[in-house]
Amino acid sequence: MNLKSTSCIGFALAFGMLSCSVGQKKEAPGNEARRWAIALHGGAGTISRSQMTPARDSGYRTSLDLALKTGEDILSRGGSALDAVEQTIAVLEDNPLFNAGRGAVFNREGKVQLDAAIMEGEKGMAGAVAAVEGIRNPIRLARIVMERSPHVFLCGAGAREFGIEQGLDTASASWFYTRERWEQLQRQRATGKSGSLENHAESLGTVGCVALDQQGLLAAGTSTGGMTNKREGRIGDSPVIGAGTWADNRTCAVSCTGHGEYFLRLAMAHELHSRILHGNQGLEKAAGALILEELSKAGAQGGLIAVDGKGRIVMPFNSEGMFRAFSNGKSRKIVIYRE
Ligand code: GLY
Repeated sequence: MNLKSTSCIGFALAFGMLSCSVGQKKEAPGNEARRWAIALHGGAGTISRSQMTPARDSGYRTSLDLALKTGEDILSRGGSALDAVEQTIAVLEDNPLFNAGRGAVFNREGKVQLDAAIMEGEKGMAGAVAAVEGIRNPIRLARIVMERSPHVFLCGAGAREFGIEQGLDTASASWFYTRERWEQLQRQRATGKSGSLENHAESLGTVGCVALDQQGLLAAGTSTGGMTNKREGRIGDSPVIGAGTWADNRTCAVSCTGHGEYFLRLAMAHELHSRILHGNQGLEKAAGALILEELSKAGAQGGLIAVDGKGRIVMPFNSEGMFRAFSNGKSRKIVIYRE
């Protein structure tokens, strides 16, 4: 990586942003390595160093590293952006540290209801599921909705039934039980403030991934348990195409994280695409304005990750921290706080 790209990453990370074509070295003609890039998040919110024990900090870093490696392996071997996104997210869903799959939050009735979406940027194909119970990896269910059904969005019992019909792994209530999430529910039941900003702060840990593959294709995916103590059937931004998830090869692939109600109202992921395509804005400027200005103005916290066809990555957030990681084979980083 040259000095210019190093300083660009340093500056960008310090401000909760990352935007530059990192480490794309010039190769001899005919010998060019095809570029690929991947970024992932594990949620944005109140993540301060003072509240994090060294063991917890290192647990998160190891988990982000494992997920990143999964995507890197696929992309570096010439695999598709869609495979990288699905497999990377599935690793995070199986990890109890994140609010997705295994570590998901409980709703008001003490149930785990999961949301996920995936989209590819060439044809604009997308699949999404919401409020689905008992499916181990909702991101895989979203992908088979996209590839094996005539629909885009399935919810509840119908989504689960489709997953079982298609041979997806199911998981019992004990797989989804974590003491930390159960205790969060009890605390929030006691306050009786379902859906408040404070309430959302405890629901940290939505996961997402965006990727550019060596064929120049983009894909994005997001998976979450939503908000602790949410009403039965509440759906956030993550599975809503254009709100929490979007991909278009002409602009970028995006995955959002934060207080879903606000991302839904802003149609955040599609708005980023629109500002680039129709507003002639650059990826970094458009993403920064949406998170640091629009979302902040609305009084909400969160962030997004996005990658474009040149492998440029942005990761703006307006909260204390965002679990995040990126790689393009030449530079790679795992970051939690504003650093
Ligand atoms: N952003 C995740 C949710 O609010 O459900």
